[in-house]
Amino acid sequence: MSILMKYREEMSHVKSHLMKTAPNESEPTFPFSDGKYKWEHTLLVLKSGLMLAKEEKAETEVVALAAIFHDACYYTSEYNEHGHEAARYAMEYLRKKKYPTELIANVSYAIDVHVGEMNPKTIEAKIIQDADTLDKYGAMGISLVLLNAGANKLLFLDVVNKFKIDYAKKLDFMAKSIWTDKARMIMKERTRFLTSFFEQLEAELTI
Ligand SMILES: [Fe+2]
Ligand SMILES: [Fe+2]
Repeated sequence: MSILMKYREEMSHVKSHLMKTAPNESEPTFPFSDGKYKWEHTLLVLKSGLMLAKEEKAETEVVALAAIFHDACYYTSEYNEHGHEAARYAMEYLRKKKYPTELIANVSYAIDVHVGEMNPKTIEAKIIQDADTLDKYGAMGISLVLLNAGANKLLFLDVVNKFKIDYAKKLDFMAKSIWTDKARMIMKERTRFLTSFFEQLEAELTI
């Protein structure tokens, strides 16, 4: 059975929670404020997480469930707390569904430490951090910058400046918590693509 079939109830539970709790405001944090974006991000974390789990021979079930639940409380807690809250939320759900105790502990640990922890102890927690970061680079990274710029009515030169001042620093910071070789390789490739896009944009704008 595919993971999508196996965890369809968990996925629809988290999706509807995100859609219910998202503020859905258009500025200034769009698309992050949009529940549909958060759900798409969750699916990308699941996809990258499963790929990295295979590569690292990690526990697929732990990675899949942690990916599905990792941002479930993004809209109902302070940013720094959303990992702890989502870990509790997942634990409660998985206990009700009688998942094995050890699996629940491993899933909730990986969710708990996905925010800000610079030393995750399990390979599954490392994979969740890596998978959580990868969609901020590459074509997705470019799209995020442009969507946010559009929501804030920024035009081209402002977009380039915002990328250089703000987003590029964020990427450097996130790169410090990439743990697996495969994710580091993808991150580097995607960084080249994203950086060259903004360099090209700047060159085209130069009068
Ligand atoms: Fe998160
Ligand atoms: Fe996330």
